[in-house]
This record gives sequence, structure tokens and C-alpha cells, in this order.
Amino acid sequence: MSEEHEADNRSAGDQTAVRRDRFSGGPARSFLSSLSDDERIFGADLAVDRAHVVMLVEQDIVGAETAGEILAALDDIEDAGHGELPDGEDVHEAIESAVIDRVGQSGGKMHTARSRNDEVAACIRYRLRSDVLELLETLVGAREQLLDVARAETETVMPGYTHLQPAQPTTVAHWICSYEQALQRDTARLFDAYERVNQNPLGAAAFAGTPFDVDRERTAELLGFDSVAENSMDASATRDFLVEVTGAVAGLATTLSQLAEDVVVMASKGHVELDDDYASTSSIMPQKKNPDTLELVRGRTGDATAGLNGLLTNLKGQPRAYNRDLQRAGHHAWDAIDSVTESVEVAAGAVATADWPADRLEAAATEGFATATGVADLLAMAGVPFRTAHEVVAEVAADLDPDEDAPDYDALSAVAEDVLGDPLSEYVDREAVEAALDPAESVAMRDSRGGPAPEAVAAQLLAADDVLASHSEQLDAAEATVSGARDRLQTEVEEYV
Ligand code: ARG
Repeated sequence: MSEEHEADNRSAGDQTAVRRDRFSGGPARSFLSSLSDDERIFGADLAVDRAHVVMLVEQDIVGAETAGEILAALDDIEDAGHGELPDGEDVHEAIESAVIDRVGQSGGKMHTARSRNDEVAACIRYRLRSDVLELLETLVGAREQLLDVARAETETVMPGYTHLQPAQPTTVAHWICSYEQALQRDTARLFDAYERVNQNPLGAAAFAGTPFDVDRERTAELLGFDSVAENSMDASATRDFLVEVTGAVAGLATTLSQLAEDVVVMASKGHVELDDDYASTSSIMPQKKNPDTLELVRGRTGDATAGLNGLLTNLKGQPRAYNRDLQRAGHHAWDAIDSVTESVEVAAGAVATADWPADRLEAAATEGFATATGVADLLAMAGVPFRTAHEVVAEVAADLDPDEDAPDYDALSAVAEDVLGDPLSEYVDREAVEAALDPAESVAMRDSRGGPAPEAVAAQLLAADDVLASHSEQLDAAEATVSGARDRLQTEVEEYV
């Protein structure tokens, strides 16, 4: 049978235009196939195919007419959707088969000067970058919501904890800003990863380059990649960009999980009232209002860290250059990013809609003599060595009755006289001590840079707004590059169709 004739009979049995008889059937077919998982990169593959074909015609590797037919077939395949693809080992092969089915043998020119190895790497990067941009968009919005809550709650005193023990009074705003600051770094890490995601592996072919005069800069431009992944072996083999994104996502999930844990604990003490939209009840205990959404945010951290672990395990034993293990790498990143993007939205929504009962929080802020450090600081400011001041207050704290939250001036004075040899009034007056014992005053005193005093938090809020604005701009610029490239590619395609 001539090659031509054989090709004409390509749809017989399990064969496709790409996959010949020898590799068309058998018990491992479905095991080998990633076609259904590849739905996620269906759109990416079409874009990568289009950019590749435009470059091939510009470089005189494929004629304009054939290119036009291939590009028209790709439009048709896009309209039909992933579900209408012929059988195939993966989306790349299925789309190529579908092109050949429509165009005939010359459709096979689409796969000139490339391999599925550089192709799939390009598709993953292309798709992942929009997922990262979507996550960044969600994160920027969430930070905005958190900052709004912080702005409204700069005076809302609440207990702060270390070791889950009452430690020092702080404010709801200061607490929220601590998470927003962490989310700033999580955002920055994602931007950093994005830069290394958005590189063009196309033109690396299987790993060893190609004898065709391909223009890798041009496909980068057409696909909106910021640079070319240089070494062809690295370009087709590496998935470290997946590691970076999944690592950043796992870090972000950890921040969210800590926030969620705080809110769960606060809810258990009545220090926060979640909106009904973010709470759940018990199927049996009618009085219950449970912070389930935040428990799920905490639970989803497992998805992200599992993804990172799975990915690193997948990659660690792989020799250069391409191995089929890589087909099982991507889903770890997709699962992690999908799971955590939703978590960002829910965690921020739960905090933004919650109610912070100011009186209750302020009362709780005195529990466990949480103003003790402030009293020691006051003595130290009056010239008592801090260690001695600590000793005075520690002794008073040890003598407190279990149901007593703070000592009065006289109790402090008695111990001070014992330890210091002078009455307390030699150092500080009654009013100052009483102020230090008041949680709101205690907060106001701690006005050092980054501290909880309302004016210190106001400065943090201004700085946070600046960082947020610059992250927003960076995001807009990345989105503009991507959509500009999409339009440019479309215009170039229309030249030939
Ligand atoms: N479906 C494959 C993947 O996801 C595409 C590349 C196949 N390449 C190969 N040499 N078998 O990695």
C-alpha cells in the first residue's frame, strides 16, 4: 500500500491520522492517554498550533495556502470543542489528526519543526499563566477587602496570643494587617514565578532543536511569552516552573490556613461572629453555628502541599530529556491552584463580612493579665532595668487569684517596694499605671513602627495601599501583554484563512 493510500484509510479501526497501526490499540491505550485531562490545555494547544503555523509560513517552511487550510481547520476544531476530537493519545495528537482529517495529508505539515515535547511544554506554560493571573487577580481583590476591614477596625482592641495564651492587647486592624502583609509576599512570590512560567519552549522540538530555520522569538511574541527558554533540552524537559507556582500556591495556602485557624479559634470564643453565608449548622445540634468555610480553607492547604509533594516526587528521578512521567506532572499544579484560588475568595469573604464585637473583644483583651508587659515597660521607661521591672510584674502576676485578670495599683506598689526598695510612686504615678492596665491605652502606647497603636497601623495601611497599587499595575501589565498577544495572533491568522 502506498503511503498515500494507507493515509486515506486512516480512520479504519483504532487508527488515527497520526497514530499508525502498530501503536493504535492494546490494553494500555487508555492508560497512556491523557486526552480527557488535556481538556484544560485544549485552548492553549490551538493557540500554540496557530502561532507555530504562522511562524512556519513567515519563515517559508510551509506555503501560505496550506497554512490557511490548517488555520481554518483549527478554527473549525475549536468550534466543535474538545469533546468532538478524534481518539488520541493526547490533545496534541488528536488535534493534529483532526486537522489532517479536514485538510488531508498536507495538514501533517503543521507538525514540522516541532515535537509534542516542546508543544506540551508551551501549552502548559500558556494555560498556567492565565491560572496564575486569575489567582493574582483574586488575591489583589482579597487584600483590598482585608484592608477595608482593617481601616474600619483600627480602634477595635482584641486580645493577642502567643502559645494560644493571652499575651498582649492588640487591634483587629493590626491582626488583619499581619495577614495582609503575608499575602503581599505570597503575591510577590507568584509574580516572581510568573516571570519564569511565561517563557517560550517552542522550537526546542523533541529536545535537540531542529534543522528548520524556526523563529523562536516570533512564536514567543505571538503567544505573549516574555522570553525564550533558551537551551532546547532544558526547554522541553523542565517543569520547574510548575514547582515554583505550586510552591508559591502552597505557601499562600499556608498563610490562608493560619488566618482560618485564627478565625476558627476566635469564633469558638465569641470574639467574631461570622456571617451566615460563611457558617454552617449542625444536622442535630440546633444551637450550633460552625465556621466550616474556614475549616475547609484550612483543609485545602492539604491539596496544595500534596500537589507540591506529588510534583517534586514525579520530577526527581527523571533523566534528561523527555519522559512520559511528565504527563502526570501538570495535574498537581492544576489541582493546587484551583483549590487555593477558591480558598482565597472564601477566606477574604468570611473576614470581610464578619462582625467584630468590640466590647466583648476589649473585655477579653484584659484576660490573663495581658497588660503585664505594658506595666513592665512603664517601669523600664522610668529607669528601672527592664529585667527588674519584669521581675516585679512577674511576681504580681504569680500572686493573682485565678479569677483575677489584672492587679490593682496597690498590689503592684507593694511588690515594687519589696523588689526595688522604693515605693512605686518614686517611679510612676497611679494614673500612668492605671492607663497601662487598660487594654486600649496599652495598645495606644505601642506606637513603634509596625506596632498596633492606631497611628502606627494607619502608616501600615498607607504602605499596604501602595504595595497593592503596584501589584495591581503589574497585574494589569501582564494581562495586557497576554491579551495583546491574543489579538495579534488572531490578526495574523486572519491573513491566511
Ligand atoms: N501527552 C504528553 C505529555 O503530557 C505529550 C508529550 C508526549 N511526548 C512523547 N515523547 N511521548 O507529556
